[in-house]
Amino acid sequence: MTDTLSSGKRGVSRRNFLTTTVATTMTATLLDKTSAQPAPTAPRVEPRQPVPLTVTINGQQHRLALDARTSLLDALREHVGLTGTKKGCDHGQCGACTVLLDGRRVLSCLTFALMTEGRDVTTIEGLASSDGKLHPMQQAFIDHDAFQCGYCTPGQIMSAVACVQEGHTGSDGEIREYMSGNICRCACYPNIVDAINDAKTKMGES
Ligand code: FES
Ligand code: FES
Repeated sequence: MTDTLSSGKRGVSRRNFLTTTVATTMTATLLDKTSAQPAPTAPRVEPRQPVPLTVTINGQQHRLALDARTSLLDALREHVGLTGTKKGCDHGQCGACTVLLDGRRVLSCLTFALMTEGRDVTTIEGLASSDGKLHPMQQAFIDHDAFQCGYCTPGQIMSAVACVQEGHTGSDGEIREYMSGNICRCACYPNIVDAINDAKTKMGES
């Protein structure tokens, strides 16, 4: 059997055919590489480059420059100096870091600080009135002994304020359900429910 591809009168061997094809392709590639301009490269972005942020915290405007990966929790604690908001688990499981963002509760450990650009953040430090009078929820937690070590308390109070404002205080069961994202390892849950029941009427009055 002959190793020949028929091409009219002239026979072309399979080896010659392959050799010619490969050589042609390589030449074209080399020519292309030598004549081509270097591919434009995107400007290198330094991930730690500070990004400007303007946010209102407890009624006061702050201008910050943060690594884009900074959480709202770390921004509050380490860049603004508001350490009332607590870091428990740092991954969305305990509720200790709860703050209000435009009046709605969020877990600040799972919120990028840059997401708060131009928005309003309220922390536990922003609840009392300017004359030092405690928010009814803060006072109710004291009156009902709704904490022991106190580590979870800022998050509990912020969440409780939102729970009342959302209208989820129709029964003790409903309060427990809508406060279930806030863990208290001192197990002050019955007193927390009592405090919320007490504060909900006073919040309406205030
Ligand atoms: S610290 Fe944010 S949920 Fe635990
Ligand atoms: S009061 Fe200690 S964890 Fe809640």
